[in-house]
Amino acid sequence: MISFNHVTVAFKNGSHALDDVSFSIQPNEFVFLVGPSGAGKSTILNAVMGVFKPSHGSVNVGDPSIDVTKLAGNRLAEFRQNIGFVFQDFKIIPHKNIFENVLVALRAKHVPAQFQKNEVMNNLKNVGLEKKAFEFPIQLSAGELQRVAIARALAGDRKILLADEPTGNLDPKTTWDVMKLFVSLAPSRTIVIATHNTDVVASLNKRVIQLDKGKVVNEQHNTNSHTKFL
Ligand SMILES: Nc1ncnc2c1ncn2[C@@H]1O[C@H](COP(=O)(O)OP(=O)(O)O)[C@@H](O)[C@H]1O
Ligand SMILES: [Mg+2]
Repeated sequence: MISFNHVTVAFKNGSHALDDVSFSIQPNEFVFLVGPSGAGKSTILNAVMGVFKPSHGSVNVGDPSIDVTKLAGNRLAEFRQNIGFVFQDFKIIPHKNIFENVLVALRAKHVPAQFQKNEVMNNLKNVGLEKKAFEFPIQLSAGELQRVAIARALAGDRKILLADEPTGNLDPKTTWDVMKLFVSLAPSRTIVIATHNTDVVASLNKRVIQLDKGKVVNEQHNTNSHTKFL
């Protein structure tokens, strides 16, 4: 569960990245965050991670939920290990092979050594890249690198996956492959994707939260899901 309750994020220069934003995302929901550049999409994802402290409101995450705005230090770092994050520019470590790139996430979560190999390979299988485990990033295409990043984000059984413009650096065909991969991973995870790609959003029948100038301006609920109407 992710719940924003009257969240305002203001910056020192007086601008508001989020202005009294409220919405709830249920466990295992798949949601697109859309809106023009500067609308507040990245700020929402970062607020879920506790990166931005709202000047007003609360951000409750998990089940049982905790108010992320109240966390700091080790407790915040520990909380973040429950969430996978996928970036536009992949953030794959170039001098480590694919296996080691995913392993980093397991080490961060303190997954015991005897489970690590299986867990890395299972996550690479989930994204169709188990055969490339011992290749290096330079040998992979952009789409494959983003799939590695998705495997890394899920490693350690993370139930919440956030992605910020994950297809922003990909061509149209690869964009579609990566979005279909997210959809295939969805049923047992909560997935929130910030994207500019209106074609993809229009084609996939998923819930959409539309933002503009730091406010929620439209919320569609996926009629196939079991979520309540707000
Ligand atoms: N550190 C910051 N200081 C001041 N303003 C910021 C900062 N970070 C983001 N903003 C502003 O907050 C608004 C929302 O930004 P952002 O969440 O990145 O939008 P989006 O991801 O939808 O493009 C923008 O107007 C942006 O300029
Ligand atoms: Mg952004």
